[in-house]
Amino acid sequence: MRTVYVNGNYLPENEASISIFDRGFLMADGVYEVTSVLDGKLIDFDGHAVRLERSLGELDMRAPVSKDELLAIHRELVKINGIEEGLVYLQITRGSDGDRDFIFPSPDTNPTIVLFTQNKPGLADNPAARKGAKIISIEDIRWGRRDIKTVQLLYPSMGKMMAKKAGADDAWLVENGFVTEGTSNNAYIVKGNKIITRGLSNGILHGITRAAVLRLAREAQMEVEERNFTIDEAKTADEAFTTSASAFVMPVVEIDGVALSKGTPGRIATRLREIYIDESRKSAI
Ligand code: PDD
Repeated sequence: MRTVYVNGNYLPENEASISIFDRGFLMADGVYEVTSVLDGKLIDFDGHAVRLERSLGELDMRAPVSKDELLAIHRELVKINGIEEGLVYLQITRGSDGDRDFIFPSPDTNPTIVLFTQNKPGLADNPAARKGAKIISIEDIRWGRRDIKTVQLLYPSMGKMMAKKAGADDAWLVENGFVTEGTSNNAYIVKGNKIITRGLSNGILHGITRAAVLRLAREAQMEVEERNFTIDEAKTADEAFTTSASAFVMPVVEIDGVALSKGTPGRIATRLREIYIDESRKSAI
């Protein structure tokens, strides 16, 4: 049984609880982060901590712990639960003052903080990455602040279910013909040797893996262009891939039934996955 962290306590998962009035539960009034673990160490922890601080700030939510405490809690959970490869999930909500109300509770209300680990052996040497992902496109009908990492994940969940029903692995979200991002990842195409991905705005989550992968691509003298691309352009691209903390770089081999790079993971996506995993292992803390 896992040991989890709830509001200052390390507890067996079946003894951990929060209030039924918690605004995370009633209003999706909460933010989260997912940090990956390789070799028992945290990948891109700093990036996740900085983005968490930004998400909290944008929602006028108080941070219940400092960045140093957060790092200590992550490390403790990884250690107690013996995680070599996996994920640490963190969620902070606005807490509750004991009733349901649209109005935020007083600012001195204690936020709720929960962390738990997910053991995922084979996260790095993932058979799914050798096969590549099949994706479908669906309309992006999410709210306008996708840069804040909130727990409002109903539509992304529905998107994954639509993909599953269609025999695919995931969905890309499309707004006015342009791809915004994947349900839980950032989206890229490759044309010639150029890596193309949408630029940062309120329209997408500013992926921590995205930042690292684009930096590493530029360091490896690969060409990167941050611009919008349409779903039609994606279907004629040489390659495509996604990035996220939970799947690193994931090659895409099919979009809406159209095969890319002959239905196998592309050369650049495969290379970027290797580089990202190698460099992440080196800089893990
Ligand atoms: N999802 N875009 C969306 C909508 C996401 O939910 C995520 C991450 C990303 C990639 O961000 P990062 O590289 O920082 O993981 C982009 C996480 C992994 C999740 O919901 O499980």
